[in-house]
Amino acid sequence: MIHSRNRRLRVNESVRSLVRECSLTTNDFVMPIFVMEGENKEEPIPSMPGIFRRSIDLTVKECKELFSLGVKAVNLYMKVSEDLKDNTGKEAWNKNGLMQNTIRAIKDALPEMVVMPDVALDPYSIYGHDGIIENGKIVNDATNDALARMSVSHAEAGADIVAPSDMMDGRVQVIREALEDSGFTDVGILSYAAKYASSFYGPFRSALDSAPKDNMEIPKDKKTYQMDFHNSREALNEVFKDIEEGADIIMIKPGLPYLDIVSKVREAIDLPIAVYNVSGEYAMVKAAAQNAWLDNDKTIIESLTCFKRAGADMIFTYFAKEAAMILNR
Ligand code: PBG
Repeated sequence: MIHSRNRRLRVNESVRSLVRECSLTTNDFVMPIFVMEGENKEEPIPSMPGIFRRSIDLTVKECKELFSLGVKAVNLYMKVSEDLKDNTGKEAWNKNGLMQNTIRAIKDALPEMVVMPDVALDPYSIYGHDGIIENGKIVNDATNDALARMSVSHAEAGADIVAPSDMMDGRVQVIREALEDSGFTDVGILSYAAKYASSFYGPFRSALDSAPKDNMEIPKDKKTYQMDFHNSREALNEVFKDIEEGADIIMIKPGLPYLDIVSKVREAIDLPIAVYNVSGEYAMVKAAAQNAWLDNDKTIIESLTCFKRAGADMIFTYFAKEAAMILNR
């Protein structure tokens, strides 16, 4: 006779919800946002249906909507005009640059919104790389100095947490020291600790026109700084170094194909873990849903919940607004 019957705990929704091991709420979401110059402007991103680049005024309006839906954190990316790009990335720390103006505008309108600017040179680089290039190579330490200046200028504009996504060695320490020296002791660092060289970033790069340029003189991909997708022990090494250097939150990226990494890091550390449900993951679900091959709402909620089950504390996701609307129903 069978005594152990696992189906007893699945008999109805009330029982199932009692034994549930994790939950998904709007508190878990960080919405990535693309910003461009201009006024009252909005441009769709073709490979990311439902996602737009917006001028600052419409970005603030969008942030108000997000906040009222319960999404209380945004991650900012700038579409930089070609004439402002160079090899130093110096536009990245322009006090009146697009990023700095956006941070100020959001914090003025919504002081409680957690504003997390992306810290990386690629949108500002003529080469589309996250670092400064010398003799055909991405130079680590000079890039770190640029990232530190960029981070301090974000803090001056009112950023709550800076989010370096570049994968240079030692940059968390250099950024932390620069923030401390400038008096920004309360500004946090969310470090992209384990970020892989991934083809899932394609739609993002077309949104910002930030893909590495096709030029014989420079590396054609980001594999000398972003991680090799064959590796997982290396992720722990990256995570421990960033914690030692002063990171407050640890990011793993991409998301869905990398849940083994999230779970492994969760076992190893007690700091908050963020995971990035990247542009290509968004595009896949949207493409299938538009064809009615997948149920849009159910697939979104399942995917995002799986991040929580794997051990993430927060999810950077282009689905944040839509998922909040579904959860609030
Ligand atoms: C660049 C950056 C990338 C993403 C966030 N910051 C792309 C890259 O590394 O080339 C990707 C995000 C996404 O695909 O949604 N510093």
